[in-house]
Amino acid sequence: MLQKLEEVKKEFDSGVGLVGSMPDMAQFKADFLGKKGKLNALMGGMRDLSVEEKKSFGARANEVKQEMTDAIDKRSQDIELEAINAKLAKNKLDISWTDKIKDLGQQAAGLHPLTQVTRELEDIFLSMGFDILDGPHIEDEYHNFEALNIPESHPARDMQDTFWFKDKKHLLRTHTSNIQIRGMEQKKPPFKFVGPGKVFRCETLDASHEAAFHQLEGMMVGKDIAVPHMIHFLRTLLSEIFKREIKVRLRPGFFPFVEPGFELDYECLLCGGKGCSVCKQVGWVEGLGCGMVHPNVLSGGGIDPNKWNGFAFGLGIDRLAMMRYHIDDVRHLHSGNLQFSEQFKTY
Ligand code: DAH
Repeated sequence: MLQKLEEVKKEFDSGVGLVGSMPDMAQFKADFLGKKGKLNALMGGMRDLSVEEKKSFGARANEVKQEMTDAIDKRSQDIELEAINAKLAKNKLDISWTDKIKDLGQQAAGLHPLTQVTRELEDIFLSMGFDILDGPHIEDEYHNFEALNIPESHPARDMQDTFWFKDKKHLLRTHTSNIQIRGMEQKKPPFKFVGPGKVFRCETLDASHEAAFHQLEGMMVGKDIAVPHMIHFLRTLLSEIFKREIKVRLRPGFFPFVEPGFELDYECLLCGGKGCSVCKQVGWVEGLGCGMVHPNVLSGGGIDPNKWNGFAFGLGIDRLAMMRYHIDDVRHLHSGNLQFSEQFKTY
């Protein structure tokens, strides 16, 4: 009997490594360890053995059973691994894709200049401890106008030609200033954040006007913040972006959500101040609107204007990118022309 047992074990040992798939393995396992398997068949013969023999046979049979089970587990794992490896070999990822694409006569992708400038701005603000927030493109009247101290009859609503939805309640945001309101809903002062994004206006298009363009809104609320802080901050910011000292000028500007409000112009870097189509021949470009946050805006946002104050600004990203990369017509930015975009590849 013991000899038979060893023979079965031998047969098992020489067969287990040859099993090549999980269904075959199930069959193999049943042949040896199943109810009607070879091991059980031998066990059936134990009846005829003496007590002594039963003992030694039983012990060895148990050992064999354990060894077979372990061998089956091990081989099953290998089969699964082999299957995975085979699959991987078939779907091998070719990371030399840039060359392949070139072979196919296609261009490798790069970041659009607007994306590059926006990311750079975000990095500058992050390094100054600002949070980056987002706001919806489709906005309601409250967040785009009313909460910004622009009530329904206010002439400022007509200053920005708005794309309204049919319900007359929703619109494509005309500026990123909605992010000020969204930010105040989330945050308790003191805080400072910026929010970049697309804005939309029903504009007549020319070299410096597009119906969809990009702004970056900023808001800083704290204690005892004053206009000189704001000016210093904005000038530092522009120098940081252009990587050199940059001439700015401040004009009074009217925006209902700030008081006082300003427009900050910076020297036109395209023509060096001589005058060109981008700066409308004046040598300066309108860089951003800014001012001290209006008390109505703060209190509407749940912030006590007697305790807190701060400044806000809205920066035009397209114009910044134009200055940065010497682009003389804003329409190029949205042209989808690959020959144009190609020039600004980051690699
Ligand atoms: N939202 C204004 C616009 O699109 C820009 C602006 C002006 C934003 C003054 C501000 C600000 O935050 O304080 O024309």
